[in-house]
Amino acid sequence: MSERICVIGTGYLGATHAACMAELGFDVLGVDVDERKIAMLSAGVVPFAEPGLDELVSRHVREGRLRFTTSFAEAAEFAAVHFVCVGTPQSRDGDGADLSAVFAVTETLGPLLSQDTLVVGKSTVPPGTAERVSERLAALAPPDVTVEVAWNPEFLREGHAIEDTVRPDRLVLGVASAEAEKTLRHVYRQSIREGVPIEVTDVPTAELAKLAANAFLATKISFINAMAELSDLVGADIVSLADVLGYDDRIGRRGLNAGLGFGGGCLPKDIRALTAQAAELGAGVAQLLSSVDTANARMRDRVVDLAVEACDFAPRGRRIAVLGAAFKPLSDDVRDSPALHVASTLDALGARVRVYDPVANETARRAAPTLEYVDSARDAVTDADLVLHLTEWPEFRTLDPLALGAVVNHRRIIDGRHGLDPDRWRLAGWSYRALGRVTRETV
Ligand code: UDX
Repeated sequence: MSERICVIGTGYLGATHAACMAELGFDVLGVDVDERKIAMLSAGVVPFAEPGLDELVSRHVREGRLRFTTSFAEAAEFAAVHFVCVGTPQSRDGDGADLSAVFAVTETLGPLLSQDTLVVGKSTVPPGTAERVSERLAALAPPDVTVEVAWNPEFLREGHAIEDTVRPDRLVLGVASAEAEKTLRHVYRQSIREGVPIEVTDVPTAELAKLAANAFLATKISFINAMAELSDLVGADIVSLADVLGYDDRIGRRGLNAGLGFGGGCLPKDIRALTAQAAELGAGVAQLLSSVDTANARMRDRVVDLAVEACDFAPRGRRIAVLGAAFKPLSDDVRDSPALHVASTLDALGARVRVYDPVANETARRAAPTLEYVDSARDAVTDADLVLHLTEWPEFRTLDPLALGAVVNHRRIIDGRHGLDPDRWRLAGWSYRALGRVTRETV
């Protein structure tokens, strides 16, 4: 079997997959329509922040195991296995997934195929997409070429992409033939040898698996956030409550952190895509997931409300320092970022918002140019009337509340991520507020 692999789409998922496949010993060709991206990657530079990926890409580019191109003709000739890793964002005109990139690849690649080919979808898609791709490829490919479509969703988390690709917690192979299964088992033989659990299933189950996993994670987050709201009302403590729940193996503590809720390029659009498909089919899960989405949006509003309250209900002209802009730590991704949403809302209410994120200042500036961006937490909080902790970067945990207390205008902090130690901040004379935690002004 050929040791060559094509990876089509070199965004977050594709660039990581391509580099990791090269690391596993394959000759890999990454393909994208974006010339700028391809030029950067060919020079060994990754166009986004992901720990360790720059080093991996540059090493394999240098050693010649990883190349990039914009030519689909070259791709069609290069390999008999093509991973499709293009983006499937939310449609502009609704909640469903925009599958145009998947079908653009299909239309371009199909007629160029010159050998029997396995197309393996990794992009997150609603069930039924693979079948449509398969029908189009069969119609477009030359008559002497056989094309099969499999689906092999990925579950990588931003900030942990390499580790999640090389040592995933499970492999899902959605295949329609023993031949496709054999090819994918060969691709992933190292992970399989290392004992990674593998689920060989049909194609629709594999397509649904990714959406269902993200829907479950989103539900878990909205559940604990709903409990945070209740905790506020009954005088309970959400962090302690999450610990108690988390000791139950069936629940688990991971992914049960209350706070500002979920954002990013996956969870929000994936629950909406699943909701849209479920609603179209009349499936009850549409209602459940729609509540999950609403509950999530509510967290952003509640943090804004808390901030407005801390500004004595007159945010106009108040100086608000925002710590964190990325949708989560270890990433420069600000897509649907809860932190940036809160910062922008307060800006729109007339506050003077100054933001510091260790990595995401530039991406945030592009998305929200009217906010002020500075290069350190200290610069952000200097003269602030209120400080908001909105993305739980490790460096914020170790901030010195005494030193920062000396430069702010008012020692008032709202911890939107439960990432700070309330006692440390209160001991240093701060008013510390967080959703779902008892309000005490002194310790
Ligand atoms: C997610 C899925 O975890 C991953 O399996 C899938 O492949 C892609 O989508 P990612 O978007 O990188 O990954 O981030 P994740 O770590 O799941 O966090 C998503 C959002 O939820 C972030 O905004 C994060 O801050 C928030 N979150 C996460 C919480 O609010 N509480 C938690 O306990 C966990």
